[in-house]
Amino acid sequence: METLAVIGCQFGDEGKGKIIDFLAKDFDISVRFNGGENAGHTVVFNGNTIKFHLVPAGFLRSKTSVIANGVVINLRKLSEEIEMLKKFRASFDIKISHISHVVTDLHMKRDRYLEELRGKGAIGTTLKGIGPAYESKYGRYGIRIADLYNKETLEERLSFLSRVYGISYEKSYVDSVLHDFAKIEGFVTDTREYLSEEAESGSRILFETANGTFIDIDYGTYPYVTSSSTVSPGITVGTGLSPKYFRKFIGVAKAYTTRVGEGVFPTEIKGEEAEILRTLGNEYGSTTGRPRRVGYLDIPMLRTAVKINSLDYLALTKVDVLGKMKDIKVAVSYEAGGSEMKEFDPSNLPEKINYEQFDSWEGNRSKLNRYIEFIEDELRIPVVLVGIGEDRDSIEKRGDIAL
Ligand code: IMP
Repeated sequence: METLAVIGCQFGDEGKGKIIDFLAKDFDISVRFNGGENAGHTVVFNGNTIKFHLVPAGFLRSKTSVIANGVVINLRKLSEEIEMLKKFRASFDIKISHISHVVTDLHMKRDRYLEELRGKGAIGTTLKGIGPAYESKYGRYGIRIADLYNKETLEERLSFLSRVYGISYEKSYVDSVLHDFAKIEGFVTDTREYLSEEAESGSRILFETANGTFIDIDYGTYPYVTSSSTVSPGITVGTGLSPKYFRKFIGVAKAYTTRVGEGVFPTEIKGEEAEILRTLGNEYGSTTGRPRRVGYLDIPMLRTAVKINSLDYLALTKVDVLGKMKDIKVAVSYEAGGSEMKEFDPSNLPEKINYEQFDSWEGNRSKLNRYIEFIEDELRIPVVLVGIGEDRDSIEKRGDIAL
């Protein structure tokens, strides 16, 4: 079998949607394994902008799209998304794990409640109920797709959730959940079984992470993180596939760095320069529309991402945007406690950042090449894809991906 996993190397919003869509044409199956509706993978083509939240961004080009067990699903949003996608693909095959957890209105209310409770320390979540859905999953009071086949089971689960949260719900909500479930029921199956059969029979499978390495629940800037495993080790648990099936990993990094929500951001820039970059890159959250915080590329962060995810390749997005900036800098190392640090450690933050300066490369290919080659030298992996525009075809292939 041939598999490739696409991983976000920064704080999410690296432009994974476009890269996944590009890669998916060479794969039979696209798989989402983590996160939920908080993700927003954008694909632009023929004047259409499609935002994938729950369905894999490889949907348009691969034969089958799988929403595996590690994903938490808002049923209504999923059925709306599938409806919307029908405009772009008349016949398709979607498979949804029967053991995925469901995000209910109660989870969304709990998300808002917790953010309010945190006050100044709010995480800045997407308020899509993601944290609470994983909280109830690991707390063993979650609701799984499989629980929706029996109304009594659903009533029991909802009632318990409601007591845990101290949040009430209308009796009619049970029917509303079942109504939403009926719309996606036909896609539900045992995706672990399906994927392992396909992997054994030689299908080409593309795995796509939602969110990014540094908002991973374990390796991110805790507690300013999302609640799932966004990194490559998370794929096995999120799909039920053995590690022996995972072959190659490609990281996606934006040519600069952005972050939505709170939390540490070593290379963040503020003021007028930030505003220019935000505007040039249209840096507004694709799920919430919030302005993204912006900053320079952070090589120590990427070095750590390469290690955590065992990346073989890198895809660099939005180089056209960064190339328009007058002042281009890249963080190459940090300093803390009198010593130089080559990697990003969220529990040992830098006191000083060492930067390398680059010239703007608008209209000057050799200057852009210098930027890309510098990144390759620092990370010791090849940059095989370069995003040079918004549209799905605005990708330059610099090298082959051997699976
Ligand atoms: P949550 O995932 O909604 O709980 O949000 C937790 C943190 O992760 C917040 O800072 C969000 O802005 C951030 N986040 C969640 N999903 C994404 C994403 O897909 N891209 C970028 N940031 C995200």
